[in-house]
Amino acid sequence: MLETVTAHHDADGTPLDPHTAAVEVLNVIRPTVAVAWFLTFAGHALHRWPEHRKLLADGDAAYARAFAHEVRRFYPFAPFVGGIAAADLYWQGQDIPVGSMVLLDLYGQNHDPQLWPKPYIFDPRRFVGREPGRDELVPQGGGDPATNHRCPGEDVTLTVLETLVPRLAALHYDVPEQDLSIPLRRIPTAPRSGFLMNPRLY
Ligand code: HEM
Repeated sequence: MLETVTAHHDADGTPLDPHTAAVEVLNVIRPTVAVAWFLTFAGHALHRWPEHRKLLADGDAAYARAFAHEVRRFYPFAPFVGGIAAADLYWQGQDIPVGSMVLLDLYGQNHDPQLWPKPYIFDPRRFVGREPGRDELVPQGGGDPATNHRCPGEDVTLTVLETLVPRLAALHYDVPEQDLSIPLRRIPTAPRSGFLMNPRLY
């Protein structure tokens, strides 16, 4: 591993120190695993509500994007993001003294009935023909990614999902007996058995 690591170089050709190189490797692995997690949820949704498969498999691009947004809204993944108040604040009737930890409840906002009618119904049509507002859908953090606790990889995540979900929908596979319940006591969470598929080879 160390040999691989020392083979990496900065833009100016200086070898990266092992710590920085290891962080860079993790920076590639961590988001790749995170997107695979959402793709598992997408497989779960296609299995639970197979009525979405035809539109996706037929190549309806707007529906694929809407489906990707709805997977990110509906399923529990990043539960909250946190920050420490850098100064005394007064916000929406609440005193927040410097040094307090403030959490943004991502799952709560993504299931707030005032923003999302029938929030526990999986319905990609919420997003057909419209992009959600910045402060509306927050599965990957809130605010502006340049300055706040929001993921800068959101566009990449969406592109990967809207590319792979139609392919998943077009695959022929069987779903063996397994435990597809999703525990809400785990962070991050996933179906208890993962999502096992047996491809059909005919
Ligand atoms: C399932 C997919 C993903 C989820 C749920 C997710 C979630 C998040 C969240 C909530 C944060 C903010 C943490 C905070 O500031 O408190 C974050 C940061 C970050 N994400 Fe993602 N992410 C995902 C995929 C990706 C992808 C695909 C990339 C890159 C292509 C990426 C790159 C980053 C980076 C670089 C940061 C750190 C930003 C900073 O500290 O300024 N993420 N992610």
